[in-house]
Amino acid sequence: LGRRIERLEAVPSTQDIAHQLAAEGAPEGTLVLAEQQLKGRGRMGRGWVSPRGKGIWMSLVLRPRLALPFAPQLTLLTAVALCRSLRRMSGAEIGIKWPNDLLIDGKKISGILLESTAEEERIRYVIAGIGISVNLEADDYPDELLQRAVSLRMATGRSYDRTALIVEFLDELEQLYDLFAQEGFAPIRSLWEALSVSLHRPATLTTPQGVLTGVPVGLAESGALLVRLGDGEVRAVFSAEMGASSS
Ligand code: BTN
Repeated sequence: LGRRIERLEAVPSTQDIAHQLAAEGAPEGTLVLAEQQLKGRGRMGRGWVSPRGKGIWMSLVLRPRLALPFAPQLTLLTAVALCRSLRRMSGAEIGIKWPNDLLIDGKKISGILLESTAEEERIRYVIAGIGISVNLEADDYPDELLQRAVSLRMATGRSYDRTALIVEFLDELEQLYDLFAQEGFAPIRSLWEALSVSLHRPATLTTPQGVLTGVPVGLAESGALLVRLGDGEVRAVFSAEMGASSS
């Protein structure tokens, strides 16, 4: 992974460039890196703050041999790789909020956006978009985000060499990707569950089908979140916005 690297200055979003390269046949592992994004994209149609030179804004082309319903597994795998590599490099206690936000003390330091293109239910390619708030300072964030977001630097009091973080992450991702190819999702699921801060605490999940309140208890084989509802039923949730339960 990362054998072909496109380094760019300011772009609207690295996702769009990676999509374009993948559609033109770019090999698995092609990496698009930008110093700055002018229209960084987050999950659920949100934006992503991507100031110049302060973070890692990158998109990786993957070509997994997977049926489309298993795409969530890849999202979780990416979060595990990122969490493990950032923990190693920073010593910070970083946890995963389902499905793939990385948090320090409840504040988000990194987000992942996976976009897949499929043909007849098989994945053609996946663009794994990764944003890591590495060396941002408080005044790089809009005020309303400071409650919920933090950078590695703000959380740990030192700044980081971005290239070293990328190398460590790609190395970890490659290892987990091989493990996944050989042994399937089970070992990835265990790693994810061990790093998760979302399990065994009541939560409210806003799904496309409506709002659920329950206790997340683990991951299904498909990568869906298993949530125990009030009546004891365990429901598999594939896509949702997750918040702490107020009840
Ligand atoms: C999220 O948590 O909402 C996902 C954020 C993903 C941000 C990254 S930065 C690199 C890539 N390009 C984008 O426009 N978004 C992703």
